[in-house]
Amino acid sequence: MRVVITGAHGKVGRAAVTAMLAGGHDVLAVDLTRPSFERRDPGTADYQMADLTDAGEAFAVIRGADAVVHAAAIPEPTANPAHVVFRTNLMATFNVLEAAVRFGVRRFVNISSETVPGFFFPERDFLPSYAPVDEAHPVHPQDPYALSKHFGEQLMDAAVQRSDIRCISLRPSWVQNVDNYERNLGPQVRDAAVLSPNLWSYIDVDDLADAIVLAAESELPGHEVFYIASPDNVGGRNFAEILPRYYGDQIELRPTDRIDASGISSAKAQRMLGWQPKRSWRDYLDADGRTLDRS
Ligand SMILES: NC(=O)c1ccc[n+]([C@@H]2O[C@H](COP(=O)([O-])OP(=O)(O)OC[C@H]3O[C@@H](n4cnc5c(N)ncnc54)[C@H](O)[C@@H]3O)[C@@H](O)[C@H]2O)c1
Repeated sequence: MRVVITGAHGKVGRAAVTAMLAGGHDVLAVDLTRPSFERRDPGTADYQMADLTDAGEAFAVIRGADAVVHAAAIPEPTANPAHVVFRTNLMATFNVLEAAVRFGVRRFVNISSETVPGFFFPERDFLPSYAPVDEAHPVHPQDPYALSKHFGEQLMDAAVQRSDIRCISLRPSWVQNVDNYERNLGPQVRDAAVLSPNLWSYIDVDDLADAIVLAAESELPGHEVFYIASPDNVGGRNFAEILPRYYGDQIELRPTDRIDASGISSAKAQRMLGWQPKRSWRDYLDADGRTLDRS
């Protein structure tokens, strides 16, 4: 397939490009980064610079695609003005999807977020109703980032109603790669009392990239939403013990499929996409949350 990957120079996009090329697909990478005008290394993707908040630029890069992976976004709400986060994420998604619909693209993979239910960046705090959180959990976003992702998923619902495009929204947990495992997860590996709204969840970037390739290749009809989180929790602790220890009875504990379960369930992705996560924080960190010595 000819796959256009937006946000291709970001944390998720880079891994998605590598995995998609390894899967034998032809990739056009798109981002805001300036192009290089040197001879391209063999086995790398084509690249075009485009600001996807501009409809013309979005239409120009999507033309000719069989599938689109849309990962371009501002990935959280705290480092840019609220309206910039909202406008960038919503308008980029709208424009790229609109172009995909008009050009008859068959498959759209929308990189959404674990933050959609709203308890990650709220102005008025609230907790998940139950855990592990799954796709049936109620959605009440307050912040511009989660709202932009929630509305992005609604754009996918509308697209499959008004055209033959097939959409998959992936809601990744906090994305980790070799460069940031220790910095991001180390404190929580050392101490379960370092709490996070995702209830000790994370996702390895290469496992996420595998899910993105499966989603792009999927024949699933309509629009499906999938959480993508590693099956184990940060620290590998007994989930049924730590949930009540830190949250009392405020979050209902639902059955888990393993003792060291994540606070987010990806059972739907495993069942419907055939996704099989292979990596863990344990491949990168020791029991003290320090980077493993690989020498
Ligand atoms: N990083 C995480 O933990 C995480 C978790 C859940 C979901 N996500 C989502 O995954 C996707 C990728 O996030 P990431 O972590 O790789 O972020 P990133 O910031 O590393 O990459 C995003 C890329 O999008 C590009 N971009 C931004 N605005 C653009 C525009 N107007 N036009 C074209 N390109 C634009 C940026 O230049 C950047 O390279 C985002 O949709 C993000 O919301 C990320």
